[in-house]
Amino acid sequence: VSIADASPGYPIIQISNSHASASISVHGAQVLSFQPKGEEDLLWVSKTAVFAEGKSVRGGIPICWPWFGTHPDAEMPAHGFARNRFWQLTAVQQDEHGSTEVMLCLEDDEASRLLWPHAFELQLRVSVGKVLSLELTMVNSSKEVVDLTAALHSYFNVGDIAGAAVRGLDGAEYIDALQDSRRFIQLGDVRFDAELDRIYQQTAGDEFIDDDLRGRSIRLQKSGSNSTVVWNPWIAKSSRMDDFEEGGYRRMVCVETGNMGEDVVRLEPDAAHTLGVTISAESARAASV
Ligand code: BG6
Repeated sequence: VSIADASPGYPIIQISNSHASASISVHGAQVLSFQPKGEEDLLWVSKTAVFAEGKSVRGGIPICWPWFGTHPDAEMPAHGFARNRFWQLTAVQQDEHGSTEVMLCLEDDEASRLLWPHAFELQLRVSVGKVLSLELTMVNSSKEVVDLTAALHSYFNVGDIAGAAVRGLDGAEYIDALQDSRRFIQLGDVRFDAELDRIYQQTAGDEFIDDDLRGRSIRLQKSGSNSTVVWNPWIAKSSRMDDFEEGGYRRMVCVETGNMGEDVVRLEPDAAHTLGVTISAESARAASV
């Protein structure tokens, strides 16, 4: 494990063990890469991503918290503030299987209370081994009941979006952000030939990103999550984003494990909730058995 600056003042934790290599930005507690031995990176980061205060890097796994999406008050940041803050690195350790575990924390302070007037503790546990596991524990340290939405906003690397599909959502109801939040039922796999931005509901089971070009499948095993966002900005929307590399929409897809839409987390004082995902690569042949 070593630490290097991505740009001045933006430390990146670099992990390399017998199973995989990975990197995590302390700003946002954002996992930026996960590359099991012999595999291409499972995560996508835009080549034109920027490290800057108050901004989240375009790619990897930004943490959306304590709200997902835009805020009713247009002055407030989209996807909350956790992805725009420096977290504290509290522990790095190796487990008996040779996986590396990293803990990062974020607590309320004056700046967070201006945006969200509640005391909280957030802890992210990242385990890098044959698989990548993330567990985001949110504790309500305030005296009020709070409602939260959140996401592990994961950008996955695909060979070519035209040959990619998201499997495991067949029959799920979704809220379509591109059609006035109307509701539809997913039939079969999710495929991509235009902008797509949906919140799938009641999605506790495993999901797979099938990548025909690479002949692999990325498996997502969720916990504490009953909703999934699938997003690809396609041509027009991605070209409006300065930090989105040209043509990058063809090489990525977001499949976001979270608590979104109707899947709101209500926390009593001192209560906690853990949102988690385990991400692994399988060969397409093994995945289809
Ligand atoms: C997705 C949303 O989760 O995040 C999209 O569903 C949004 O609507 C996208 O455009 C990216 O958001 P941001 O704030 O990182 O540009």
